[in-house]
Amino acid sequence: VHLSADEKSAINAVWQKVDIEKDGHEALTRLLVVYPWTQRYFSSFGNLSNVTAISGNAKVHGHGKKVLSAVDEAIHHIDDIKHFLSALSKKHAQELHVDPENFKRLADVLAIVVAGKLGTAFTPQVQAAWEKFSAGLVAALSHGYF
Ligand code: HEM
Repeated sequence: VHLSADEKSAINAVWQKVDIEKDGHEALTRLLVVYPWTQRYFSSFGNLSNVTAISGNAKVHGHGKKVLSAVDEAIHHIDDIKHFLSALSKKHAQELHVDPENFKRLADVLAIVVAGKLGTAFTPQVQAAWEKFSAGLVAALSHGYF
């Protein structure tokens, strides 16, 4: 995915508003609530039986921060995401056996979270740049499956 200078600055403007810990927690909570089949990968996290249990689960909180920290690093390597995420992709494919369709679902909940934070600043143009980045992120994470 080629990103123009304007698209990169839009992506950085979005990311500046993101709180890695708080928003990571919200994104992972939404993933587990909205797409409940994703819970099966997190059986070691303990109680995920309802929304309150999921949002109050300390492991969900900690892991949400880990996921958004990886997104943060990917943004810092925006011209080389595929290479940068190759080990993480292989880990999801070969060790964790995560169906790569789920990367799209995580990208969807993350878009909802950032849209909520930015409000009217999440203009159609900003959304278009963000979607391009997201697609690159999903493709990079899916790369290790092939
Ligand atoms: C672990 C990032 C999507 C399931 C991890 C780790 C990172 C990460 C950084 C820690 C790796 C390590 O400890 O070496 C991401 C990113 C994603 C993503 C950036 C998408 C933007 C998903 C999805 C699922 C998933 C969609 C499942 C539905 C897991 C599981 C672990 C893991 C089960 C191991 C958790 C544990 O037991 O600690 N991921 N992930 N990931 N990820 Fe992902």
